[in-house]
Amino acid sequence: MFKFTQNYVRKNHFSFSNKLYNLNLFKYSTKNDETNKTNSSNSTNSSNSTNKTIETNKSKTTNDSFVRDTHTESIMKPQYDFTKHSILNNLYMFLFNKDNIGYILHEPQNNYLIGVDFGDYGISKSIVEKLEKRQNSTLKYIISTHSHHDHCGGNVEWKKYRPDVTIIGGNTPPNFIPGTTENMNDLETRTIGEYCIACMFTPGHTKTHVTYIVTHVCEDSTKIPIIFCGDTLFIGGCGRIFDGTAEELVSSLKKICTLPPDTLVFPGHEYTLKNLEFCLKLDPSNPFIGDKLEWVKKVLSRGDFTVGSRLIDEKLYNPFLKTGEKYYLNLTNEKSEIRAFKKIRLLKDQMS
Ligand SMILES: [Fe+2]
Repeated sequence: MFKFTQNYVRKNHFSFSNKLYNLNLFKYSTKNDETNKTNSSNSTNSSNSTNKTIETNKSKTTNDSFVRDTHTESIMKPQYDFTKHSILNNLYMFLFNKDNIGYILHEPQNNYLIGVDFGDYGISKSIVEKLEKRQNSTLKYIISTHSHHDHCGGNVEWKKYRPDVTIIGGNTPPNFIPGTTENMNDLETRTIGEYCIACMFTPGHTKTHVTYIVTHVCEDSTKIPIIFCGDTLFIGGCGRIFDGTAEELVSSLKKICTLPPDTLVFPGHEYTLKNLEFCLKLDPSNPFIGDKLEWVKKVLSRGDFTVGSRLIDEKLYNPFLKTGEKYYLNLTNEKSEIRAFKKIRLLKDQMS
C-alpha cells in the first residue's frame, strides 16, 4: 500500500461560490431507516423496500412513499433554475434501499412517465401510481443502467404488471439487463416526446453498464443534458469495479467528461458524503472539496439529496476524473493514469 503525502500544494483554484452548491432539488423524510444491503460495492442490491420516503410540498407525508416536485420555486435554487436546465421541471427522484436513487421523468407532450433504475418494484409502483393519479399520466418506459439488482430488480415484476411498458437496457449481449423488452446500441438515440435519450456504453463497474444522456429538445428548452449514470460516476466518486476493468472505467469516465460542462450528473446512489470525505483525505488542500463537503453536510442534515452535480464541478474535485493529473500521479507514485486509478480505487474499496 502506498502512503499519501501532501507535498503538492494546489494553485490557481478559484474559490467555490456557495451559489454553485445551492442546489436543493428534492426533499425526503426518513421513516424506518435501513434495509438489507446485500450486494457489494458502491452498488447495493435492493430487495427490500425502502424506508426513506419522499415528501412532497404538495401533499403531506403519509405512510406511503411520496415524490416531491423538483420544480417548485421554494425548492429550486437560482443557479439551477430552468433557464439553465429546463428538464428539471419534470424530474422526480426517490430514495430506496437506504441509498439507491430512482428517477422519474415526466414527458409533458404525451403525458408519459419514464422511470430510471427501478430497483425496487414496490416502492417504484407506489410512487408511479401517485404521479399517474396526480397528473393523469402513464408510465410508458423504464430504462436501466446495469444488471445489478438494485438498479433493475423491479423490471420483471413491472413487465408482468404493465406489459405495455417498454423496458430498455443497453444492447450488450449476452448479458442483457433482466426484464428488458428493447435494447439500445451505443450512441443510439431515441426521441420520446420532448426528450432525446441517448444510450452511451460506459463499462467498467460492470461490463455492460450504460449511461443515458437525456436532453430536453423542445423549442424553448435549454438543451443542456442531464445524465443517469448508474454506478459509473458518483458525486465525488465512481463505482467499484465488478466484472469490468479499470481500463474500461477510466475510458467510460472520459467519455462522460466529453459532455457539456453544465451537464447535470444524476447517479444511482447517494454516496456523496463518504466520497467527499475520501476526496479530502487524498487532496486536503483542494478548496473545492471542503466547500462542497460543508454544503453536503447541511443538505443531508435537512434530509435533502445531494445529487444533481454539474460535470464541470466534478472535474474540480472528483479524484477518479483526475488520476491522470500530475498531483495524483505523484501522490500514487505512478507514471500511468490507469495504475494511479487502480491504486486510488483500491484504497477507496478498502475504506468502504
Ligand atoms: Fe451496481
